[in-house]
Amino acid sequence: MNYSALIQNRKSFREFTDKQVPFSTLETIKNYYYNTVRRLIPELKTQLYFFGTDARAALEGAAGYHQFLVGAPQYLVLVSEKHDLAHVNGGYVMQDLLLKLADLELDSCWLTFTDSVEVKDVLGIESNMDVVAIAAFGYGKKSVKRLRLNFRSMSDVDIKAKYRYMEPKRSVNDLAFVETWGNSHNLDRYIGFFDDMLWEALYAASLAPSYLNRQAYGFLLHDGSVSLVARPDAYNTKIDGDLSLGIVLLHFTAVAENWAGKLHWDFAPVADGLQIPKDHKIIATTAL
Ligand SMILES: Cc1cc2nc3c(=O)[nH]c(=O)nc-3n(C[C@H](O)[C@H](O)[C@H](O)COP(=O)(O)O)c2cc1C
Repeated sequence: MNYSALIQNRKSFREFTDKQVPFSTLETIKNYYYNTVRRLIPELKTQLYFFGTDARAALEGAAGYHQFLVGAPQYLVLVSEKHDLAHVNGGYVMQDLLLKLADLELDSCWLTFTDSVEVKDVLGIESNMDVVAIAAFGYGKKSVKRLRLNFRSMSDVDIKAKYRYMEPKRSVNDLAFVETWGNSHNLDRYIGFFDDMLWEALYAASLAPSYLNRQAYGFLLHDGSVSLVARPDAYNTKIDGDLSLGIVLLHFTAVAENWAGKLHWDFAPVADGLQIPKDHKIIATTAL
């Protein structure tokens, strides 16, 4: 897959046509999930469930931004074994699937939820594992106007029809720092050292979908390594925050691996000496 191109063209769709996804396409997605999908923690057991349009009524109230469930012909629900990083891994796996869907010319939207037990209950999922990720997909309505959400706060999401444009995101300069958090002085020189490929990976990270578009994270470049850092964010729930971290890791990794080879993210606390604000947290570090 051409991750850079898929990432640059992807956006969330919140309206879908009635066109059903062909059986053969659903089989392709299943095969991709079983054989190819990228996993952050490969040994962590997960299972993928597909639901048709009937799931919309069932999910009403259990998933989606406040009183707004994206109606779609298909839904994906990922369940996982319990693990401290289950949602980070879930975000990583599901986002790789959603990019595969984009490759198959399908559109999608992540759906928030808070209660795994409730989601399993309304959908009739019989599993000991926890729901870690939900997404809606199908063929998005390609009208000039589309639904756009206006995030005032977590419980006050305004739905407005506006002209279609990409959700504004933080730029690479607001997302990546060199050696000290907030320092972007040497960023160009540092990135130049990697022949601009690092820029492509950071750019892919800057386009990652995140809960309420909060982008509550950043990257710290240091000593030939890069660390993903979580910023505190009052609007993020633990689940949505962790999913968003997994998603941004997938965007960065999928593009960086084109030139850096396989990246190994270390989730253990990294060496002291990295200068980040007290309320920020280093999530994972990899050598480049
Ligand atoms: C964990 C997570 C949960 C989300 N939940 C919802 C949701 O319930 N409803 C919705 O319309 N969008 C949801 N989104 C989509 C984000 O609002 C969207 O990714 C963000 O606004 C950026 O827009 P983009 O995806 O078009 O780049 C969610 C995204 C993430 C990562």
